[in-house]
Amino acid sequence: MKPPRQFYQALALGAPAPLRELPLRLERMIHFVPPHVDKLRAKVPELARQVDVILGNLEDAIPIEEKVSARAGFIAMAKATNFGDTGLWVRINALNSPWALDDITEIVAKAGDRLDVIMLPKVDGPWDIYYLDQLLAQLEARHKVQKPILIHAILETAQGVNNVEAIATSSPRMHGMSLGPADLAASRAMKTTRVGGGHPDYKVLADAAAAGGERAAAQQDLWHYTIAKMVDACAAAGIKPFYGPFGDFSDAAACEAQFRNAFLMGCLGAWTLHPSQIEIAKRVFSPDPGEVAFAKKIVAAMPDGAGAVMIDGKMQDDATWKQAKVLIDLARLVATKDPAMGQRYGLG
Ligand code: GLV
Ligand code: MG
Repeated sequence: MKPPRQFYQALALGAPAPLRELPLRLERMIHFVPPHVDKLRAKVPELARQVDVILGNLEDAIPIEEKVSARAGFIAMAKATNFGDTGLWVRINALNSPWALDDITEIVAKAGDRLDVIMLPKVDGPWDIYYLDQLLAQLEARHKVQKPILIHAILETAQGVNNVEAIATSSPRMHGMSLGPADLAASRAMKTTRVGGGHPDYKVLADAAAAGGERAAAQQDLWHYTIAKMVDACAAAGIKPFYGPFGDFSDAAACEAQFRNAFLMGCLGAWTLHPSQIEIAKRVFSPDPGEVAFAKKIVAAMPDGAGAVMIDGKMQDDATWKQAKVLIDLARLVATKDPAMGQRYGLG
């Protein structure tokens, strides 16, 4: 562990100082774009107005023979597009791949000032972050990048889950992390080929003696433990937790249920791999206007956040006041990007 005074020092002479607070940004969906496909890249300016974050994907799902053109496509799109207040992220290839070094060096050299966040896949431990952190500082100094590029880890290996707290606190460059259910399932030898969501065979049966005739069964959540562990690690470190991909584009209801579980447990957003998932993420990760209205009642009844009151038969105290603040702060952030939602929250 670094001594506290050193933690916030730049890792290279001339690199921008690490951030003490993360920028306040709405990141309900991280929308994946394959940058080697010209037709899809051409849609990026329009997409950038609809989503909170655009991510150029260079890793899995990009064919090996397109790795270099995807990188070039990302740099071109980063330079050509005005992203406004929409974030620009890139998912680079894993550090042990033949492409990672060129992904990092070329992108920082040619588009470092446009880039907000690098998503790093298959993070096993803090050592992966230390390496990228140091290299980014050297490259930022060399290319005179003005603001530090943040790192977002994908939690998708059993080792990564074991080391999640150390990863979360490894560097002031840490933006947050996303659960990667496909690679994590493979790494753990889970017996599912699905990308996120539940599995019908992962269930609990009603007790045989008590049930009498047909035994009721309830499907359980395969991801509950990992999401909870990730949310605690991120919240404790002051960084942001996200749910990752949902692979069955034909099942909007299951996608919404997976996103909603993640939202309720503390995640701030999810990946959208298909345009149909954008509206789902927007709906799920913007707080419900009814909940916001109730939260406003709590804050109005307890302006200094202390004591206890009853509202609609429900007990409110210092803790529920803090819960209410979480919802109202998020509603305010949504209202800055989405005036129609702002009106529904009464914050317009
Ligand atoms: C995402 O990268 C995953 O493996 O689920
Ligand atoms: Mg993965």
